[in-house]
Amino acid sequence: MIDELAVDLRGEVFTPTFLVNEMMGKLPPDLFTDDTKTFLDNSCGDGQFLVSILNKRMVNRISHLDALQTIYGIEIDSNNVKKCKARLSLGKKSKKIWAILDRNIICADTLDKYHKGWESVGYMWDETRKPIPVDARGNKFFGR
Ligand SMILES: C[S@@+](CC[C@H](N)C(=O)[O-])C[C@H]1O[C@@H](n2cnc3c(N)ncnc32)[C@H](O)[C@@H]1O
Repeated sequence: MIDELAVDLRGEVFTPTFLVNEMMGKLPPDLFTDDTKTFLDNSCGDGQFLVSILNKRMVNRISHLDALQTIYGIEIDSNNVKKCKARLSLGKKSKKIWAILDRNIICADTLDKYHKGWESVGYMWDETRKPIPVDARGNKFFGR
């Protein structure tokens, strides 16, 4: 069901799966096998693109945990954030999985560096902020 208020307020129209698949199919396939590559949807909604990326990585024998380490999302609506995390969790309750999801899928305003959602992680596009530490695989750590 389309929530007309959400459409008016936030442009909340999710990309249909067939279109996501078509767009993903146009990207170089090695993007999904190379686990040093990271993906960001800065208005991720309920995760249409991020879920597709997760699936493509897992089809390419990258583990669920490793794939999640490379997937980032920003979304202003907290219900969408919940749905997105739930989809990316694949129904698993593992603390490790949820720690990554809580770190990588952020409820914030992409366009407002002062939005409270950025408090714990720092504004993504602030060039003056300190560099984000990376782990041994080169993945960025969001969160403290
Ligand atoms: C057109 S939908 C696209 C969602 C998803 N990327 C997709 O293709 O299915 C845009 C999403 O961006 C969110 N949004 C709108 N303004 C935003 C902002 N300033 N910061 C973060 N998210 C925002 C909306 O709540 C909505 O879920």
